[in-house]
Amino acid sequence: MIASDKITYLDNNATTAIDPAVLEAMRPFLDKYFANPSSGYRFAAQVRDAIEQARERVAALLGCEPGEIVFTSCGTESNNTAFHSALEARRECKHVVTTAVEHSAVRKPAQELERQGYEVTVIGVDKSGRLSLRAVADAIRPDTALVSVMWANNETGVIFPIEEIAQIARDKNVPLHTDAVQAAGKIPIKLREVQLQFLSISGHKLHAPKGVGALLSKLPEEQSRVRNLRDRFEKALVEKIPNARVNGAGAPRLANTSSMMFDDIESDAALMMLDQENICCSAGSACRTGSLQPSHVLSAMGLVNEQARGSLRFSFGRFNDDKDIDRAIDVVPRVIGKLRALSPVSAR
Ligand SMILES: Cc1ncc(COP(=O)(O)O)c(C=O)c1O
Repeated sequence: MIASDKITYLDNNATTAIDPAVLEAMRPFLDKYFANPSSGYRFAAQVRDAIEQARERVAALLGCEPGEIVFTSCGTESNNTAFHSALEARRECKHVVTTAVEHSAVRKPAQELERQGYEVTVIGVDKSGRLSLRAVADAIRPDTALVSVMWANNETGVIFPIEEIAQIARDKNVPLHTDAVQAAGKIPIKLREVQLQFLSISGHKLHAPKGVGALLSKLPEEQSRVRNLRDRFEKALVEKIPNARVNGAGAPRLANTSSMMFDDIESDAALMMLDQENICCSAGSACRTGSLQPSHVLSAMGLVNEQARGSLRFSFGRFNDDKDIDRAIDVVPRVIGKLRALSPVSAR
């Protein structure tokens, strides 16, 4: 086993460490207060109260009413539930609109719908990863049952203009679902001002354990600190590594995410070498680990296969500090240099 204090963890879009404050808040319910919240006695009422308090906190994070929150076990279940509910409510409509860069937790339900005879319109993005509002408006038809557009991309951090997309969907009277798994806790979400029907979030992306809902709000200070770390990291890598590029640099992005492209390397080899150095990052989404396919997100942004396969995702978080960035700035360029020296392109 590798001790976690030896690790430089730069993969916070895959999952995050549990915050000790979250663990403390949860401990009584793993230990003493184990009752089924639906039971009639007072012992259970304490658990019920705690759930309602958690619901209020999640509502505060999202700027909505507590009664609008449904707890699920994860982002994937939330996405699936949103699809099922929307389609059930509009059974006569057999058309769905989504984008080319969604997480597989939306892509797969959309593909399943196609197998069931639905028509799915998949909207592409430009080379910075941006979505055209006109393309969204044009894709919606009278028989559209649901529009599903993520709020922020898990690979590049590119943020979509959900407020404007919600207005378009509303004008056309079609429900909107947004996968906000990467957005929640990183950018302000004020659902009282954004009229949408379904929004998915996932606790383990914001320092809660796997398999539960969300909580907290340390938003503004934390994000500007993380942005400084991320920007220092990107600047140093672009300076130290010839032809290093930031994917999605031209678009609004999450403060914590850095998708970087390096010529003449294979990301899988880079990940192995970085792992040997105890640096954790990924080649796209964690779900793609071990897949030989280039990232569908980067391909949709116009990167050719070699460029997509030469890209790495670094995602920063609450527990990263300047020491982590110093280490990464030292190790990553060395690893890329070694790989390039071994590359058949450099031998030519
Ligand atoms: C954008 C996005 N949506 C959905 C998910 C799935 O969330 P969960 O792991 O909670 O099922 C992820 C996880 O990586 C994600 O990044």
